[in-house]
Amino acid sequence: MPVPEEPTATPGPAGSGGRVSRKSVLRAAAALGAAPLLIGGRVALARDQPAPGGAALAPTPDCHDGDEPTVEQMEGPYFKPNSPLRDSLVTSGTPGTRLTVTGYVFGRGCRPIPGVLLDFWQADHNGAYDNSGYRFRGHQFSTAQGSFSLTTVVPGLYPGRTRHLHVKLQAPGRRVVTTQLYFPGEPRNSTDSLFDSRLLMNLRQAGPGQEGTFDFVLDVPQDPTTPPTTPPPTTPPPTGTWTPGRAYRAGDGAAYAGLSYRCLQAHTAVVGWEPPNVPALWQRL
Ligand SMILES: [Fe+2]
Repeated sequence: MPVPEEPTATPGPAGSGGRVSRKSVLRAAAALGAAPLLIGGRVALARDQPAPGGAALAPTPDCHDGDEPTVEQMEGPYFKPNSPLRDSLVTSGTPGTRLTVTGYVFGRGCRPIPGVLLDFWQADHNGAYDNSGYRFRGHQFSTAQGSFSLTTVVPGLYPGRTRHLHVKLQAPGRRVVTTQLYFPGEPRNSTDSLFDSRLLMNLRQAGPGQEGTFDFVLDVPQDPTTPPTTPPPTTPPPTGTWTPGRAYRAGDGAAYAGLSYRCLQAHTAVVGWEPPNVPALWQRL
């Protein structure tokens, strides 16, 4: 019998109120099949580029700070640490309706954040969580463009809840943010006290499956006029054995299993993020 997930009492303020927001800009970019670029410190779309023949295109709206950070929600009783590193939770024989969820992770300055840990977990198509293994559990890191992509199945319903996905996010060197994503048009959305419309995915049918999109905004300060910095390569990495719980900065070094690694992004080490497992965080020297 599943343990009910109780609501939290920390909803944030409402969203952008109709202004052009990061979400709408980037969803437009996704619809165009374009990766987001940053021009002059704002998100830019493919239509910023000159059209064939040199015709001017409509200007891309600036990326507003209209979006508050993504609403946080309770973890619930079924989270398990140390999920596998993978962006697909299915195999060819996995029962259920295929679902892909894609989007971007942004900071407060409208800039995509690379290297964000996204740890997803969900019920299977029958509404059951795998609490003994790791089915329908997996973590990944946002790409250099700040995007993520999850391949899974539509989670089934279980008593007391509407349809949802769970996710934890952690930007490099930042605290963990826990939330849930919801499906539009679900009858139980109106009766689930945890449901929050600000966490609704955009969803569309794609053949026999479904495609969802959602963009996260993390409370990470960003100066939109300053390009992202990378650690100076000349920093001599300090020595020491990789240690869970230690806060590593970009450029730090660590030894693991007799090999040397350099930290690429600031983070706090946890079991499961050993240097060989997370190439987004550690570079073999
Ligand atoms: Fe759940």
